[in-house]
Amino acid sequence: PLMKELFGLNQLEAELKAFLGVKHVVIVPGDADASDWVKKEMGRAGARYLKQQAAPEQIVAVSGGTTMLAVAEMMMPTPAFKQTTFVPTRGGVGEAVELEANYIASLMAKRTGGTYRMLHIPDELSDEAYQTLQKEPHIREVLDLLRSARMVVHGIGDAKTMAIRRKSSAEVLAKLEAGKAVGESFGYYFDRDGQIVHRVRTLGLDLEGLERVEQKVAVAGGASKAEAIVAVCSLVSQDTLITDEGAARAILKNA
Ligand code: F6P
Repeated sequence: PLMKELFGLNQLEAELKAFLGVKHVVIVPGDADASDWVKKEMGRAGARYLKQQAAPEQIVAVSGGTTMLAVAEMMMPTPAFKQTTFVPTRGGVGEAVELEANYIASLMAKRTGGTYRMLHIPDELSDEAYQTLQKEPHIREVLDLLRSARMVVHGIGDAKTMAIRRKSSAEVLAKLEAGKAVGESFGYYFDRDGQIVHRVRTLGLDLEGLERVEQKVAVAGGASKAEAIVAVCSLVSQDTLITDEGAARAILKNA
């Protein structure tokens, strides 16, 4: 709290909350684009928030990415977490294993004493695979768990950065550019008004399922994600945003 006063972050939190229409906003000092330490601090704030909110017998859906990895690395045991099931929002992303939602869910469970389930499917599916896998009993089971999640914790990415990280085809990159996509979450790419430009064909938590989740927590920072955060918040009604000063100031500057 002292640090926050020193940096005037309480005021910034109030302004961002009003601008984005998010119920709770937590801002850590600094800019994650400039320093990895800031991402770790976002991770710490995220982990603390999850611990405060934890309820017995809950299902927590978690996405992938470096910010979510930072959250997982800061998680600590609490009695409610021992009865928590961590479930990945989707399958693999075709990127580094430690950035996959599967790995992050398992790490959260390991660090907190909770349990986890896996979605062992590629992120990008052919039509045929999509239809077949959807019917697999053990996949069905995980999809059903996702549908009863009490909380979802997820990252937000810049559209182009994410498409490149996922080694998307030239065709997809062109589509994103033509549609002026700025942000990505849950495999959906959005333009600045929160309209969907493109979707990765994937099995996991979709927008419809997301609507049913009681608590939606986004963790994303760095000035470069300003537009992405605004876009995702305008489509998905977030309950909580954990971000940094760099992103907050960049969002409010363009407000
Ligand atoms: O790929 C999973 C994911 O959560 C994306 O939905 C999001 O855009 C991205 O990771 C964020 O990654 P990072 O925290 O590394 O910027």
